[in-house]
Amino acid sequence: MSRPVALVTGASAGIGDAFARLLAARAYNLVVVARDVARLEALAKELAATHKTDVEVIGADLTDLEQVAKVEARLASTESPVELLVNNAGFGLVGKAADGDADGDRRMIALNVDALVRLTHAALGPMVDRNRGGIINVASLAAFQPTAEMAVYGATKAFVLSFSQAVYEELRDTNVAMTCLCPGFTRTEFQERAGAEADRMPDFVWQTAEEVAEAGLAGFEKRKAVVLPGLLNKATAGIVSVTPTTITRRVAGLLARNFD
Ligand SMILES: NC(=O)c1ccc[n+]([C@@H]2O[C@H](COP(=O)([O-])OP(=O)(O)OC[C@H]3O[C@@H](n4cnc5c(N)ncnc54)[C@H](OP(=O)(O)O)[C@@H]3O)[C@@H](O)[C@H]2O)c1
Repeated sequence: MSRPVALVTGASAGIGDAFARLLAARAYNLVVVARDVARLEALAKELAATHKTDVEVIGADLTDLEQVAKVEARLASTESPVELLVNNAGFGLVGKAADGDADGDRRMIALNVDALVRLTHAALGPMVDRNRGGIINVASLAAFQPTAEMAVYGATKAFVLSFSQAVYEELRDTNVAMTCLCPGFTRTEFQERAGAEADRMPDFVWQTAEEVAEAGLAGFEKRKAVVLPGLLNKATAGIVSVTPTTITRRVAGLLARNFD
């Protein structure tokens, strides 16, 4: 029997790279997507050697609609259907709205929201037709409350959490799964790319990319709607969910100010 195929966006680093490795170990073939093709090809070579994985590499900047279309076309293929889509590529930017990086915000919305929605649509049609497969959308703990000084990032992730849960309900009578993974602080290239000072956060809050991706896959296999990796993140989201937004936004704002 041929191996199932998983398509992972943002597989050149961090959580996406960890997803690709764990899926290869679970005997999936892969389609890996990111801008840095050299890193994707090095990963492909390694996974072919260690797990005999067939890896297709798609170099694409997912903030660009024409390049997103290459990935949509791959998801539409009926010859080698994609069983699992991991919508993982994303980035954040630290800064106040008043100091606005309007172009950075536009790219963030294009990647974290627009590309994720387009790829979800492209994957779901064939999955619903075959009545199998599923999607993992990567949001964040930042989805649960307004995040001062990462205002646009938090809003994109709140969108991903809301969108994914709504689609989860739409799929309830099918065999197609939708899981929204909400990581907390995870040691990847994210903080540096965002311009955040990661070294101010205590060690105990951090998880590895592998722990986060493993929790995402385990939750997906159990058809969970929302996955919070680790006890600390579960407890934080639980407390935030039952606390009025007037308080949670203030606490997030005070924490952000503390880091200025
Ligand atoms: N790390 C955390 O603390 C944390 C917490 C909560 C949520 N998350 C979420 O987890 C996901 C993965 O982030 P990470 O922590 O693994 O960050 P990372 O190490 O910076 O990796 C980000 C990945 O996204 C890709 N990417 C960035 N811009 C892209 C673009 N324009 N087009 C295509 N691919 C692009 C990058 O590849 P190229 O540069 O090669 O394109 C890279 O593979 C993101 O959605 C992030 O919001 C992270």
